[in-house]
Amino acid sequence: MTDARVTVHTEATIDRIAPEVHGHFAEHLGRCIYGGIWHSDSSDEEGFREDTLELLADLELPVLRWPGGCFADDYHWEDGVGPQEDRPRRRNLFWAQGPEETPEESNAFGTDEFLEYCERIGTEPYLAANVGSGDPQEAANWVEYCNYEGDTELADRRRENGREDSYGVKYWGLGNENWGCGGRMTPEQYAREYRRYATYVGTMDNLLVEEDLELIACGFEGHEWNRRFMEEVAGAPWGTEFPLDHLTLHHYYGQGMTVSEADDEQYDRFLADALETEDHIERIAAAINAVATTRDIGVIIDEWGSWHPEATADNGLEQPGTVLDALSAASVLDIFNDHSDVVTMTNIAQTVNVLQCLVETDEDDAWARPTYHVFDLYAPHKGNEAVQTSVSTPSRELEDDRELPLVGSSASVDADEAYVTLTNLDCHSSQTVELSLEGTEPAEEDVSGEILFADQEPDLEVTADNAAEFGAEQLAVSVDTDGTLTTELPPSTVAAVSID
Ligand code: AHR
Repeated sequence: MTDARVTVHTEATIDRIAPEVHGHFAEHLGRCIYGGIWHSDSSDEEGFREDTLELLADLELPVLRWPGGCFADDYHWEDGVGPQEDRPRRRNLFWAQGPEETPEESNAFGTDEFLEYCERIGTEPYLAANVGSGDPQEAANWVEYCNYEGDTELADRRRENGREDSYGVKYWGLGNENWGCGGRMTPEQYAREYRRYATYVGTMDNLLVEEDLELIACGFEGHEWNRRFMEEVAGAPWGTEFPLDHLTLHHYYGQGMTVSEADDEQYDRFLADALETEDHIERIAAAINAVATTRDIGVIIDEWGSWHPEATADNGLEQPGTVLDALSAASVLDIFNDHSDVVTMTNIAQTVNVLQCLVETDEDDAWARPTYHVFDLYAPHKGNEAVQTSVSTPSRELEDDRELPLVGSSASVDADEAYVTLTNLDCHSSQTVELSLEGTEPAEEDVSGEILFADQEPDLEVTADNAAEFGAEQLAVSVDTDGTLTTELPPSTVAAVSID
């Protein structure tokens, strides 16, 4: 008996899925940079951990945001360039109480190390400038140091530090959580600061040889804030001509729930919280559209993912990597696909060891978390054209009156194939799913599928010892004579079907 039906409307295109939607975020916090990315027994001579580097390079991350987070709101980039021995040691204002690796900031990992790392793993850098305690000149100088090809003191300093050519850094965030750790500003105050910063950083655009800069402003989950920011920032005399390419918000979920202690009802609430990402996208897009258009100013979710009570500042925001978290990531990636007409980038928090990281390390090893495998399974969507899906699914009514749809899906197409991802958010029952593609009657040999977590419980935590068990397996898909596909999704699983 069929539980859910998914219809893929192959001609109803939404927009291209920006590869940057699969982006990541790395902050000087706990063991993300120090211990995770930089310096350990398994580091190469430049100090990068080779095991982490290989895992991230294999995943082909499209973009990596750095150095924060709140850390960026107090970071002075000049502390982190030049000879290592001359770099000042500073307190890490927001994350000093973390694990012993990072009570203070050594500045050993700075701009050149980060940009070199991005090149080594094949990703675009996204630098977040300090609007909290910095000034516009400092931000504009950072752009000049990174990107200018001419004959100035800052460009020469980059050359002296070993880098002849421009790094061509395209993405520049002007602020982070400026309603909080980024200066506790009102939206109007931040909009005025943003205008000052964008004036000087935006002018650097004229100096660039290779890249146009994309300037990114920081928004908020509270959507009144975004509307007020947009009204102020777009005010006369600049109007929508003002340099603003993307507006961001952060969405974390899971704060009230330790996965290992939770019951099914709490799992459902957690997954429903993840699905609220959709409302946030729609509301921030509406705030933009009130004064501009989301085609000119994209939506970025530059921090998202689970944040459970175990992750505290004292332990460097570390929490176990579970199947349930990975399941939530899959359903959020489906939402991003469905909103590819407005979402230009997202950055899950964080890349290594912190929050819903993809890679976890100890002294000796680095291993992929379940969420890593979700990004891997969803990778074929990157750069495809998203198309609409209709999903008819059973749902569960939650105590707080919300509904959790049990089966989720999104789909994309390129010249050769359609790619459909599916989630079974029901953590204790299987779902039989019927899948059809409008205008297509595929034969058995045109169809292949993969599934994640078929043999694992939702609360299973990854460790160095069991990490190999979370990879994708083949998914059984039957094909009817009329081209309808049928598959069974065990509880808390993520699957992908490709149809030639
Ligand atoms: O990702 C951890 C923190 O969460 C970031 O530093 C901050 O931007 C957010 O509040």
